[in-house]
Amino acid sequence: MSELNSIVLKIVSSGKGILAADESNGTMTKRLDSVNVSSTPENRLKFRNTLFTSESMKSCIGGVILFDETIKQSVGSNSIPSLILETGAIPGIKVDTGAKTLSSSKEEKITEGLDGLRERLKEYYKLGARFAKWRGVYNISESYPSKVAISTNSHALARYASLVQEAGMVPIVEPEVLMDGSHNSKTCLDKTSEVIKKCFEELIIQKVDLKGVILKPNMILPGTTSEEKINSEKIAELTLKCLIENVPNEVAGIAFLSGGQSEIEATENLNMINIKNNSSFKMTYSYGRALQQSALKYWSKNLDDIEGTQKVFNHRANMTTLAAKGEWKKELEKN
Ligand code: 13P
Repeated sequence: MSELNSIVLKIVSSGKGILAADESNGTMTKRLDSVNVSSTPENRLKFRNTLFTSESMKSCIGGVILFDETIKQSVGSNSIPSLILETGAIPGIKVDTGAKTLSSSKEEKITEGLDGLRERLKEYYKLGARFAKWRGVYNISESYPSKVAISTNSHALARYASLVQEAGMVPIVEPEVLMDGSHNSKTCLDKTSEVIKKCFEELIIQKVDLKGVILKPNMILPGTTSEEKINSEKIAELTLKCLIENVPNEVAGIAFLSGGQSEIEATENLNMINIKNNSSFKMTYSYGRALQQSALKYWSKNLDDIEGTQKVFNHRANMTTLAAKGEWKKELEKN
């Protein structure tokens, strides 16, 4: 087994998943503003360190995605990456520099960050990162995602993935099709399938080792303002269809983003995906909001209540890990 493949398996095996704590300072400021906490480097570290020192890190979390600020922070004499390693999880790093307007299709985005990436990756490796993340983002409408958005973002994702593997790390490849819009689940299925297919075509052209990649896709859902309502069985069915038809078998790990679903929806849907999954893919989570939302809300009421905040986070992480094994039940949420 290659080194990269063993990192993937360590992150996604036995129901473990990924804590996406890599919000940029801009996004984290929005999250903190929403609960009336001021967005200082100290507060951002305090909240994140509360999560990283929670009991469930050991049993549930296989990898943590960090932002540039956090990977360079320390608590006492312990750097954040070494603190994460002590829990048994692997530290990772978001390396894209964000989505900017695409010059050839101005309502769409292209993710930037390739310039100087080879050098930045060397620095992150030295700091302890063993995997990385890059998010390409697409919106759905009648004419989007356009061919140019799909082609440029897939190309960038593959260039990123190739550089990350050269640096000895596992790339998380995240082509996110947003939930925003009035489209139905069939459209989400068609557009997401097109995006994922093209992404793998580029990864293969650029000789990326697929056994050393984690795919981070969206689930197949109706748009947030669609009138269509479908249950978790249908969501699981469509999501599995999309992935089984478009992801090459060599890919060892698939870790979903939560994308704006509530904590319970993201848990219930992941659970159903695992109940119905009879492919060889491991299907787990790489959640940001669906792991942190309740903990952040609780913490914002008293920033020194570390124990209480950890209890809230532990519950969510435990539920999500049960879902990654297809063992979650709604009744367990009451505890
Ligand atoms: P959400 O789970 O909140 O969508 O965040 C995951 C992520 O890392 C998006 O890039």
